[in-house]
Amino acid sequence: MCLSPLSFLIVFLLGPLNVKGVDWDNVPFMQNYAPLWGQENMQILNQSREVQLTLNQESGSGFQSIHKYSSGWFNMKIKLPQNDSTEVITTFYLISVDGPTRDEIDFEFLGGNKERSHILHTNIFTNGQGGREQQFQFWFDPTADFHDYTFLWNEKQLVFFVDNIPIRVFKNNTDKGGSYPTQAMKIYATIWSSPWGSGGVPINWNEAPFEAHYRGFGINACQSQNPNIEQCNSFRYWWNTENYWELNFDQKQAYNNVRSKYLIYDYCTKQPENLECQGLHLN
Ligand SMILES: *[C@@H]1O[C@H](CO)[C@@H](O)[C@H](O)[C@H]1NC(C)=O
Ligand SMILES: *[C@@H]1O[C@H](CO)[C@@H](O)[C@H](O)[C@H]1NC(C)=O
Ligand SMILES: *[C@@H]1O[C@H](CO)[C@@H](O)[C@H](O)[C@H]1NC(C)=O
Repeated sequence: MCLSPLSFLIVFLLGPLNVKGVDWDNVPFMQNYAPLWGQENMQILNQSREVQLTLNQESGSGFQSIHKYSSGWFNMKIKLPQNDSTEVITTFYLISVDGPTRDEIDFEFLGGNKERSHILHTNIFTNGQGGREQQFQFWFDPTADFHDYTFLWNEKQLVFFVDNIPIRVFKNNTDKGGSYPTQAMKIYATIWSSPWGSGGVPINWNEAPFEAHYRGFGINACQSQNPNIEQCNSFRYWWNTENYWELNFDQKQAYNNVRSKYLIYDYCTKQPENLECQGLHLN
């Protein structure tokens, strides 16, 4: 087959949208995101390549993606606020329209202090049902530098990655009666404070302002409105191709290694009979 100059041009122009390895860190914030709340506490830095979200006694702050998505590789580089930050919650998550039947996929970073380390909290809501918490300790200092936090979401699996290491897998086992996120979701990032994750240690306002930094505003995902998920399962998106249906050998080893060392709470230990907990077995 011979490509006409026009189709060559189209492939040339559209191709990189679906190709991995493009410099997605260099996309300006405003192209894909907008302020959500506490705009006075949000600063856009470095020619729109970095955003600082601040929490002080007046307010927290947050931003959201302009569009909704139904599959993708959702990545954000995040540097957490300073060490002494109990009760400070920094987030990066996907959520459909908020409400009693929402889908939601969470990274929530719970601040710590000298006595109490930071915690990486994850959860998944399907059709309004959550209660799927898994928590990890960090194996690096998340306040010292930027690290990659990623959700892979396709027809087969939902995977949470930290610096490209898979830490959590939630298989689509709807054919066996399980549930799975199906609704188009927006990307959110926020900083706020709450006692729920602090183990009773109060916030130290002497340390304020608390500043979280975000980078990497390119979005590798299938834009959609409900209900056109079919189109977002297309193989023309690299994150839907067979390589992304399950973890490969090296990823499984890294996954087992991280979880054996750093997993500190898992809702599944309380409900091993739960189908989705059985679905977590990777082999
Ligand atoms: C500004 O953003 C670019 C692109 O992401 C990055 O390479 C550079 O290191 C950033 N500069 C500073 C001062 O943060
Ligand atoms: C944060 O605390 C950890 C553990 O106490 C320490 O190793 C690290 O150097 C601290 N990081 C910063 C940026 O102060
Ligand atoms: C989950 O898998 C089933 C097939 O087992 C498929 O029909 C469905 O579309 C998948 N769900 C999503 C949200 O991709």
